[in-house]
Amino acid sequence: MNEFELKITGGTIATSAETFQADVAVRGTQIVAIGNDLGDADRVIDASGKYVLPGGIEAHCHIEQESSSGIMTADDYYSGSVSAAFGGNTCIVPFAAQHRGQTLKDVLETYHDRASSKSVVDYSFHLIVSDPTEDVLHKELPKAIEDGITSFKIYMTYDRLIVDDEQMLDIFAVAKRHGALTMIHAENNAMIKWMSGKLVETGHDAPKYHALSHPRTAESEAINRAIALAGFVDAPILIVHVSTEAGARIIAEARYDGRKVFGETCPQYMFLNAEQMDLPGMHGAKLCCSPPLRDRASQEEIWRCLQNGTFQVYSSDHAPYRFDETGKLNAGPTPAFPKIANGLPGIELRLPLLFSEGFMKGRITLSHFAALAAGNVAAIYGMDHRKGSITLGRDADIAIWDPDVQRVVNAEDLHDNMDYTPYEGMKITGWPTTVIQRGQVIIEDNELQVGRGAGEFVPRHTIDLTAMPGRVAPELDPARNFGVDLDL
Ligand code: URP
Ligand code: ZN
Ligand code: ZN
Repeated sequence: MNEFELKITGGTIATSAETFQADVAVRGTQIVAIGNDLGDADRVIDASGKYVLPGGIEAHCHIEQESSSGIMTADDYYSGSVSAAFGGNTCIVPFAAQHRGQTLKDVLETYHDRASSKSVVDYSFHLIVSDPTEDVLHKELPKAIEDGITSFKIYMTYDRLIVDDEQMLDIFAVAKRHGALTMIHAENNAMIKWMSGKLVETGHDAPKYHALSHPRTAESEAINRAIALAGFVDAPILIVHVSTEAGARIIAEARYDGRKVFGETCPQYMFLNAEQMDLPGMHGAKLCCSPPLRDRASQEEIWRCLQNGTFQVYSSDHAPYRFDETGKLNAGPTPAFPKIANGLPGIELRLPLLFSEGFMKGRITLSHFAALAAGNVAAIYGMDHRKGSITLGRDADIAIWDPDVQRVVNAEDLHDNMDYTPYEGMKITGWPTTVIQRGQVIIEDNELQVGRGAGEFVPRHTIDLTAMPGRVAPELDPARNFGVDLDL
């Protein structure tokens, strides 16, 4: 009997902290040795000339989820997770969406059912909270956190999901008290409605006008407000899918001021721009997402904010709606832009795009790639006891990247359930050719090696704020408010 079940030899390993040459050995589901001259293994994978990186964690994706307009995403937990795996991911954290009137218990049961029999990669959920009743705030959210769902998303726009400022304060106070992180879709609802109304009234209802209807200021106003409200109670927040330099700057300044705030951006804001929405007929609908694509200058600015660490998280925001009546055109063949389903697919290409345009082109280091692929996400979302690094004792979640593979993106080669990709025709250098989850090879020779339901639910720990300074507002601080303790 050999000492190890699996050994990966000759590769260059990277974690968020360092890059080095060594072999990695796996026993059971875990990494048990890293070094040279390790003992024998049942199976040896030669990774010479390749990069041995943590399996990616996709922390922002909409899978088998009813959207803000009530339609179902094109991917279920099988196709979505298979597509994620082919793109070098071993874990996904999609949303479990509460629609008004639903209990969180019912929502979580539904999503556990959807995922457990289908997902081929490990998974957790972020709850979307749209109806913060007393029960939700004081019983259901604490119970969900106890069960390992330690993050939730709230929306500052979309009529069916929006929460108001007072509800945001309620949610932040609960999150802070129980050690959860609130993710925020930050756009000013009134500005979007006002602009959309004016554009449609004046006959500007083609898909490309979607980009004008979500002004940059709508994003920065909402980010400012979210940071002010969360800062008042000193709760940790993460602003998702930031599309503008102005928004990124507000986050950077808040961090400088000691606020507990993280930032996320997505490939669409780095690789695509609004000019590309000027297409004949309804084809611009394929690029409608919120926040919208911006201009070319903005692409460069978002790259800079990724490079300088303003964004700790880089996610696909995979929100797959096909270019037909089940998705983008669910409101009819030629809807005005406000009725087009919002969202872009990207779960399979998130990491290949960053590897190719970021690491291979010298914009980020391999360690920074490993941090954005998995390490930062694991730490921020409470999974770093098991996931996110090539480290002794962690789950053996590993993606072996071959820098010599060249591909031209073609929707037909992808494994999601979509009929287009916004990245069609892009040239990519480097691809994850072998993907290993908890010691088991799940992708090899361009084939899926496991069946439905190979993934497991991963309970997450509460949010570690040790390294994040902060302070409640003086009005909430008993040392400075005549001794009033509101027991938040
Ligand atoms: O347009 C987008 N991003 N659709 C997905 C829903 C969301 O707000 O993340
Ligand atoms: Zn969003
Ligand atoms: Zn999203």
